[in-house]
Amino acid sequence: MHIPAVPAVLSLLLASAAAFTTSTPSSPSCTLHDLRTLSCHNSTSIPPCCIESPSGLLLQTQYWSSLGPQNSWTIHGLWSDFCDGTYPAYCDASRAYPSAAAVVGGALEKFMRKYWLDVDGTGAAVDPAEPDQGLWKHEWDKHGTCMSTLVPGCYGAGYRPAMEAADYFKATVQLFRRLDTFKFLKKCGITPSAARTYTRAEFVGCLGAAHGATPFVGCDSEGRVNELWYYYHLRGKVVDGKWEETETTRTSSCPETGIRYLPK
Ligand SMILES: *[C@@H]1O[C@H](CO)[C@@H](O)[C@H](O)[C@H]1NC(C)=O
Repeated sequence: MHIPAVPAVLSLLLASAAAFTTSTPSSPSCTLHDLRTLSCHNSTSIPPCCIESPSGLLLQTQYWSSLGPQNSWTIHGLWSDFCDGTYPAYCDASRAYPSAAAVVGGALEKFMRKYWLDVDGTGAAVDPAEPDQGLWKHEWDKHGTCMSTLVPGCYGAGYRPAMEAADYFKATVQLFRRLDTFKFLKKCGITPSAARTYTRAEFVGCLGAAHGATPFVGCDSEGRVNELWYYYHLRGKVVDGKWEETETTRTSSCPETGIRYLPK
């Protein structure tokens, strides 16, 4: 394979990320049947480039914290669990690319800088100078490298180094933009308040109806809501597949009553 010089690679990545495109060349070996089969539901063997396997349960995870815009939750990551809710991690050290920021750019990076923030210090541990980028890298290293449709061999001749990591960030942002938790909750009359408390049934009922399946709602030990995990199965590839909502595999960690949803 011809490998172009690094600057050419970077500008190519920057250009494709900026346009939010999904023009990544597909591996020619996926049939329509392969690409239409729902992850965790295949009854025959399908090439792992064409279906997320064996971790075919995908989660778009979000934080509520003091960081980021007041009227928005922020991105934690995109995770792939095994179909039973257990999960793999750190699947390919050779693709733990040194800089996450180097593979994104343009509008995508701008969005990530605003909405993908190092809430719990994971990113600072990875990169003290750039904690948010440390979180992006951590999420890719830990979760993205486990996704079977995001491996270089699935891209064919059009593959360029780290392209699949850029696709991971793009797909995460695209899903997050469909999951405006702040707006979902507001429509149900659930707004941040220093005084009011909410019940678990209110949160779960509201978000289950908005998403089409019950998400995981997480609280800290003081009963403050701080996390949401939206679950999906997927037809086709992470980069351009069809996401289908599905139920959480976990019980909420929030108390039944007295949940606090604090203003930023
Ligand atoms: C579904 O496809 C995966 C990936 O090829 C394979 O490992 C798994 O065995 C398949 N499941 C069934 C029931 O054939």
